[in-house]
Amino acid sequence: MTRPKILVTRRWPEAVERKLAEDFDLHLNTPDTPLGEEALRAAMRDYDAILPTVTDRLSAAVFAGGAVRTKILANYGVGFSHIDTEAARAAGVVVTNTPDVLSDCTADIAMTLLLSVARRAGEGERELREGRWAGWRPTHLIGTKVTGATLGIIGFGRIGQAVAQRAHFGFGMRIVVQNRSRVAEETLARYGAVQVGSVDELLPLCDFVSLHCPGGAANRHLIDARRLGLMRKGAFLVNTARGEVVDETALAAALRAGTIAGAGLDVFDREPHVPDDLLSAPNTVLLPHLGSASRATREAMGFRAVENLTAFFEGRPPRDRVV
Ligand code: DGY
Repeated sequence: MTRPKILVTRRWPEAVERKLAEDFDLHLNTPDTPLGEEALRAAMRDYDAILPTVTDRLSAAVFAGGAVRTKILANYGVGFSHIDTEAARAAGVVVTNTPDVLSDCTADIAMTLLLSVARRAGEGERELREGRWAGWRPTHLIGTKVTGATLGIIGFGRIGQAVAQRAHFGFGMRIVVQNRSRVAEETLARYGAVQVGSVDELLPLCDFVSLHCPGGAANRHLIDARRLGLMRKGAFLVNTARGEVVDETALAAALRAGTIAGAGLDVFDREPHVPDDLLSAPNTVLLPHLGSASRATREAMGFRAVENLTAFFEGRPPRDRVV
């Protein structure tokens, strides 16, 4: 039997690429740069499977205009808002993702941002490297105490719960949760958490708010100017979910006006573009989408995508099918 012809759109950890080469007719995008709409549209006509990432925008246009050869998009990553799932469904293309394996590392980056922005670590590091540190003094770079503060978690799936675990057990934080469905009592009890009915209800209660809901049209600008206005004046916003969940212009304005105290962001609406007004806003810690970026996790994501792909071509249901 001929081996399925597959395209991996970005370079993956070596061990995973080796495994893919053993089992499939593997084609790599060796320049390792994002593929544009035309290249993706052509790939959909040329490959049995595509293994995309967040940098590939698989819009309806990519599926449209003639027969599609691709039968499965085995996404490398848990978030898949860059894939038009309705268009995939209509074209009969299966979509899988890679949940679980990146929850710990993404939660670690959420806590890194929360701690860094609360304790002004970014500002301090820049000051020291630029030779501006004049020595210890009682009023130097005073931040906000994290231990015992209240953390609001929007989206209480695997990553949200991994954040709650760190925050509650590591930092004695009180946890307030908003989730689109009712969270089981025993899950809430594990983290001493309470669930509220809406984002509007959660925001005024919290010293920190961390976003862990999916991206996509439904949650676009979930955190907008009005909701930023519902947050406490001294509160901090952390986003490791998707950039589009936050209205970046409104956030920059809220930071400048002192509506909230700071923001830690790992994701942006039009990556790798970061708007100037965010770059120059006070009290931000900004990271280049590092959530899952540990060696072990990036390998585990790859092997999970391989598992989904193999199952599909062996006629078994892929473990992480989302479409
Ligand atoms: C994820 O897994 O969703 C990461 O953000 C990379 O896409």
